Amino acid sequence: MHVPSCPPQDDVLVIGGGIIGLVTAWRAAQRGLRTAVVDPSPGAGAAHVAAGMLAAVTELQYGEQTLLELNLASARSYPTFAEELTEATGLDLGYRPCGTLAVALDADDRAAMRELHAFQLTLGLASEWISGRDCRRLEPMLAPGVRGGLRVDGDHQVDPRRLATALLRACERAGVVFHRDSAERVTVDGDRVRGAVLRDGTALAAEQTVLAAGSRSGTVAGLPEHVLPPVRPVKGQVLRLRIPRAYAPFLSRTVRGVVRGGHVYLVPRENGELVVGATSEELGWDTEVTAGGVYELLRDAHDLVPGITELPLAEALAGLRPGSPDNAPLLGPTALPGLLLATGHHRNGVLLTPITGDAMAEALTTGELPPYARPFTPARFATAPQEQAV
Ligand code: GLY
Repeated sequence: MHVPSCPPQDDVLVIGGGIIGLVTAWRAAQRGLRTAVVDPSPGAGAAHVAAGMLAAVTELQYGEQTLLELNLASARSYPTFAEELTEATGLDLGYRPCGTLAVALDADDRAAMRELHAFQLTLGLASEWISGRDCRRLEPMLAPGVRGGLRVDGDHQVDPRRLATALLRACERAGVVFHRDSAERVTVDGDRVRGAVLRDGTALAAEQTVLAAGSRSGTVAGLPEHVLPPVRPVKGQVLRLRIPRAYAPFLSRTVRGVVRGGHVYLVPRENGELVVGATSEELGWDTEVTAGGVYELLRDAHDLVPGITELPLAEALAGLRPGSPDNAPLLGPTALPGLLLATGHHRNGVLLTPITGDAMAEALTTGELPPYARPFTPARFATAPQEQAV
């Protein structure tokens, strides 16, 4: 294997230019590290499909209390993060502190949501149970059958496409170099990672390499098995509708629903877009938009907000969340010197963008994750290195 013999041209090479790779590169460059990003189309990726809910409380899952702490910390930092990014780029992120209403459709959905509410309260989270009538008072477009719900004024939203565009510009302004190509393989020289080779054959050398390739992070060639992140694609289909001016304000906040046991969300943006999502499908690399996926989303969203069938349908897309075995990200140094991970953010990539940037910058400059990010070290999935075959 060809190994670059010249000194590293970069301090940090980030493989993957989605929002997680970009925020890592931006924060690293701000700390004075010479940083490059490898991606054929930086700023695209799962964020292009994502709805952008910053829903630490309403998306709470049983058994994910450790992740909740990270999610809450990142949500708290969003206003300052958005302000800083806007100041650096002149671009608005569509950050909207609008709150969320999570409603239940039938009696079983109501019971499930009551249980979730009790769980939220045991964790000290700000969430208020309100009647169906009060839900409709807040959001008059809700169906008369809605049985009640949770008012969570601290779960907000941001526009992930704007976020990605702003991060790209911030990186460019901070001097990050972009290689618009794919990484063919990571370069391992003896006992450490030394950069990557691109598809066009260019060898890039770097002191530290960050693998931030989203759902593809586990497929990158060149790495020994024991450091490959256990990340898999989890398909999500999402619709974008348009709210004509005459119908505004259609919804004033994010509305989530449990509908006959399934989950759906409607995220209204200030620019008149209404995002309806999302399926969650374990189908490998499939990114097909299916009639069944669209039907389920529209059926459930219509049961909650019947007026949506009047709205123009602008887009239907499918993206791949980078799922990990415990639904939490893998952050920081790995067992292989020179290689760090920033991947596996699953449902929380947009929410965790600010705190991932901070944690990765710290790891890249000091060699250690800050205390709040240590539970997310890749070491929690460590497997023994395989003996080399002779
Ligand atoms: N966080 C929303 C989703 O993954 O669909």
